[in-house]
Amino acid sequence: MNIILMGLPGAGKGTQASEIVKKFPIPHISTGDMFRKAIKDQTELGKEAKSYMDRGELVPDEVTVGIVKERLSEDDAKKGFLLDGFPRTLEQAEALSKIMKELDRKIDAVINIEVPEEELMNRLTGRRICEVCGTTYHLVFNPPKVDGVCDLDGGKLYQREDDNPETVAKRLEVNVKQSKPIIEYYDKEGILQNIDGSGDIEKVTDSVIDILDNLK
Ligand code: AP5
Ligand code: MG
Ligand code: ZN
Repeated sequence: MNIILMGLPGAGKGTQASEIVKKFPIPHISTGDMFRKAIKDQTELGKEAKSYMDRGELVPDEVTVGIVKERLSEDDAKKGFLLDGFPRTLEQAEALSKIMKELDRKIDAVINIEVPEEELMNRLTGRRICEVCGTTYHLVFNPPKVDGVCDLDGGKLYQREDDNPETVAKRLEVNVKQSKPIIEYYDKEGILQNIDGSGDIEKVTDSVIDILDNLK
């Protein structure tokens, strides 16, 4: 199963991806997570990506396409993959089609999580993440049992550097503009599935799992 999860910043891509991989044993490939890991490891890639991410802008296509191409050719991705946050420009979508062709594979579904833009600012500024296991919480919508502490391992919760109101506003602006042509591109291919992402987390998960069950 080769799946793309799309949605504006805060739509719930990461949240839903962690549920999906519990049921379907495919790797969750998030370009945002890959860049954050590179920043943490202080690699050259990390240094380059950071300058864009801090401003809420997109990392250049050639860099992003390069890391995805490499990642998709790793062994664990042979049984399928769940892409989160890629493609994010029409150029990336076209590059992915080319990679798929070279690997003699195809994308089975593009799941686009739709959430009204007004909700996204609240979701992102209230997001908190466990520094140990990476589990995502929300101060209001999905709070931990104890303030500031992960339910699973007691890890401390932190806020992502790009989740401040100014950077969120820029991210939303950039992503709204870039996502339209990608949505059209996959709609034309007949593999786009829009889902309502504004309900409870569990309700959205049900809609996503429903689509995936029907693909098998
Ligand atoms: P990335 O990390 O992908 O960030 P993003 O797209 O802005 O998306 P987020 O991770 O912020 O949101 P999400 O949809 O995963 O939401 P989540 O599930 O966490 O990218 C970061 C940066 O890296 C980019 O800005 C760019 O610079 C660079 N980059 C990455 N990919 C790139 C690419 N392909 N090309 C170029 N540059 C790239 O949920 C958010 C919050 O809402 C959480 O607190 C959660 O608990 C809560 N929540 C989730 N679902 C619900 C619900 N149904 N109801 C209520 N609350 C909910
Ligand atoms: Mg995410
Ligand atoms: Zn944790």
